[in-house]
Amino acid sequence: MKITYFKAPIKRYTFEVPSIRKWVEENVEGRVLNLFAGVTKLACEEVRVDSNPEMPADFHMDALDYVQSEVQGGDFQTFLLDPPYAFRKSMTKYQGHVMSNFKLLKNAIIEVVEEGNIVITFGYHSVCMGQKYNFFQEHLLVLGHGGAQHDTLAIKERFVPNVDAPSRLKVKRLAELESILSQTNTY
Ligand SMILES: C[S@@+](CC[C@H](N)C(=O)[O-])C[C@H]1O[C@@H](n2cnc3c(N)ncnc32)[C@H](O)[C@@H]1O
Repeated sequence: MKITYFKAPIKRYTFEVPSIRKWVEENVEGRVLNLFAGVTKLACEEVRVDSNPEMPADFHMDALDYVQSEVQGGDFQTFLLDPPYAFRKSMTKYQGHVMSNFKLLKNAIIEVVEEGNIVITFGYHSVCMGQKYNFFQEHLLVLGHGGAQHDTLAIKERFVPNVDAPSRLKVKRLAELESILSQTNTY
């Protein structure tokens, strides 16, 4: 797995930090479903969903409701999840907009992902789609904020279903090789 670490200030709207936005824009592929869209528009083809009607979004809906009712397999190549990282944050920073239940959201995404699709999950922990569901962790971004503030993590996973163990190893090795070849990124 590729690991990238850089220092970044902590902002209520994560992608307002140019280095984080750049990392996201470099790591998404194809049409992006940005499920907790916030204020920051990305330089990519994105459909923006946010439950807060004050946010610049294409759909003002709960993320889970949107995936369950509007998304079909093949609609998107990347699913971007940057929810409020804690219930307390929902209350203090996002006007009470609470993240959809992650397990249910994960199950809904599993219904509509196709081979090769990407899920990028931001949070304070490493909860993500997981290998149990055939998602391979390709890239871990660790954001250091300085002082006593704990880091933020972003995990990029790719859906690679129906492959046998040796092929999984090849996928993993390919990701590692790509990681070595792309070490020159600066943020
Ligand atoms: C961490 S911010 C995302 C920031 C965004 N990535 C940016 O950089 O601008 C979380 C966003 O999720 C939205 N949100 C919270 N609960 C939600 C839900 N259940 N469904 C959709 N959006 C939600 C909040 O309104 C807030 O804009």
